[in-house]
Amino acid sequence: MSLKIAVIPGDGIGKEVIPAGIRVLEAVGKKQNIDFQFDHYDWSCERYQQTGMMMPKDGLQQIKEHDAIYLGAVGFPGVPDHISLWGLLIPIRRQFQQYVNLRPVKLFPGVYCPLANRKPEDIDFMVVRENNEGEYSEIGGRINQGTEDEICVQESLFTRKGTDRILKYAFEMAFQRKNHLTSATKSNGIVHTMPFWDERVEAMAKEYPQIKVDKYHIDILTANFVLHPDWFDVVVGSNLFGDILSDLGPAIAGTIGIAPSANINPERNFPSMFEPVHGSAPDIAGKGIANPIAAIWSAAMMLAHLGENQAEQMIIEAIKKVLTGAVKTPDMGGNATTDECGNEIVRLINEG
Ligand code: NAI
Ligand code: MG
Repeated sequence: MSLKIAVIPGDGIGKEVIPAGIRVLEAVGKKQNIDFQFDHYDWSCERYQQTGMMMPKDGLQQIKEHDAIYLGAVGFPGVPDHISLWGLLIPIRRQFQQYVNLRPVKLFPGVYCPLANRKPEDIDFMVVRENNEGEYSEIGGRINQGTEDEICVQESLFTRKGTDRILKYAFEMAFQRKNHLTSATKSNGIVHTMPFWDERVEAMAKEYPQIKVDKYHIDILTANFVLHPDWFDVVVGSNLFGDILSDLGPAIAGTIGIAPSANINPERNFPSMFEPVHGSAPDIAGKGIANPIAAIWSAAMMLAHLGENQAEQMIIEAIKKVLTGAVKTPDMGGNATTDECGNEIVRLINEG
């Protein structure tokens, strides 16, 4: 098996955790006969400061034929966040129709849980976020800027196709798991798009009679993530609601330093992209102490997407061992460096 991966380390700790992830992929590749070709791209805020662009004009063309994209994080002080987001991440997510943003929320033994008295079996669910449309649209504008009559409009955009395809993905996932789906809504306050969302959930639910469907308004749903994380199996939300839930979820399951994510094009017409949930962490960048586990777990998700489930499992097992062991980075209460933690995972894979 040969896999061609486009690697975009990005900025800050992205450049520290991605090399650790690559070493882990190479280790598991040796065990499972997977031959990786890693093509590196320096697309980043640093590049933006030099050239005025996050990536070259034909950037997407350059990575379109790869099997997957492995991303660190982009964003750095001095470059406004909307530049790094709209100059790189959003074009990749949208043009490659990565309309599923998937984030596992799982509490592992050995990880400090910020919720009192919660055990690993209490927190194990998936957040499925719509990643292409919804509230994050470019439609809108401002008039009378700077005057007392200033007006600002921002439109949300929900298509039936876009809504149905994310719901279908979430229902299918629930079907593979515990047959339970929770939908995030706000149809009391947002009176057009959210009742529409609810209608599409009900329509899709008819095709999956075995799946128990709950819906909550986003406000109480966030409270329930904290109070009753054991209630959830698959949680689906629009772009904005999913964005919020997919940061809150990993936060209740411990440190952001281990949380992974995937941006998936389920039809496989384009490469999917795998990246840690965390950003470029300018406050610790350059110190070599970033936790590499989020990036390494994201690499495991990439392998699962590419059909390499055994390789994925080898990585997850090694991560589990590290989490209950002594080689931990400072965010988890240890004093290991990024490389020491990554190398420990490599060692466990080589040994296993
Ligand atoms: P952040 O995730 O970079 O950092 C938040 C806090 O968590 C910091 O204190 C940081 O030190 C800590 N942290 C994050 N990852 C860690 C790791 N692997 N190990 C140990 N500690 C870790 O979020 P922040 O500070 O809001 O954003 C910083 C920059 O990153 C911004 O420019 C933002 O736009 C960008 N960003 C990019 C993302 C992406 O590329 N997908 C996602 C989130 C933020
Ligand atoms: Mg977010």
